[in-house]
Amino acid sequence: MLVANQRPKITLKLATSLDGKIALANGDSQWVTSETARAHGRHLRADNDAIAVGANTAEIDNPRLTTRVPGRADPVRVVFDSTLRLDLGSHLVETARDTPTWVFTRAGSDAKASALRDKGVILHAVSDQNGLSLKEAVTLMGEGGIRSLLVEGGGTLIASFIQAGLYDTLHWYRAPVLLGGDGRDCVGALSLTNMDQAVRLQRMKVNEVGHDLHEIYERVD
Ligand SMILES: NC(=O)c1ccc[n+]([C@@H]2O[C@H](COP(=O)([O-])OP(=O)(O)OC[C@H]3O[C@@H](n4cnc5c(N)ncnc54)[C@H](OP(=O)(O)O)[C@@H]3O)[C@@H](O)[C@H]2O)c1
Repeated sequence: MLVANQRPKITLKLATSLDGKIALANGDSQWVTSETARAHGRHLRADNDAIAVGANTAEIDNPRLTTRVPGRADPVRVVFDSTLRLDLGSHLVETARDTPTWVFTRAGSDAKASALRDKGVILHAVSDQNGLSLKEAVTLMGEGGIRSLLVEGGGTLIASFIQAGLYDTLHWYRAPVLLGGDGRDCVGALSLTNMDQAVRLQRMKVNEVGHDLHEIYERVD
């Protein structure tokens, strides 16, 4: 389903501790939620045409971003990576010929760009003003046939999507575990100065997924 301005429907997915952390301070995040919740999350991936992560998540986690759901195609994997830090030996690059891998970047013509293209990665140049333009990226996705996008983090990328007003639904997996105040936040800085600016959501559903909770929220404008 394409929504306003031909952009995909955008779902933000958070998998956090009870205290809203997605990783330890050193980046270790495997695993915060249970295998049951992660399997549930892979079905959520399969319901979307594309899955996006930030360059830090791609670097630290070296994810595959596959669904592993029998009979379901893997979505396009998307990385927001302004300087093309993505490792040529990463799972995303090594499997780019099997499962489409798009990288949004500001640089598209240097040696690293050529090496990524040679491995089958599709690069899209967008403007960069304190972070790549998400508006341009989602418009390109819509034009490329992507009708639904799941943003999996980390917290910096999630915050940017929220700040840009580019979200429709939020799926929150919450595990009964505490990671402490030095852990990494699930939503990065929003630079709010007034409670009127707080991002308000409407809770639509709460499911128990094993010992974890799965909450679904819709945007309130
Ligand atoms: N629990 C979970 O389910 C889960 C899920 C995902 C991630 N994580 C964890 O989250 C941590 C990484 O999160 P993070 O917040 O540090 O980083 P992140 O959101 O993964 O990546 C942020 C980086 O993406 C790039 N970027 C490009 N355009 C952007 C834009 N418009 N807005 C935001 N970022 C943009 C920037 O790097 P450049 O300037 O180099 O382009 C930026 O520093 C890791 O420890 C990972 O394990 C956990």
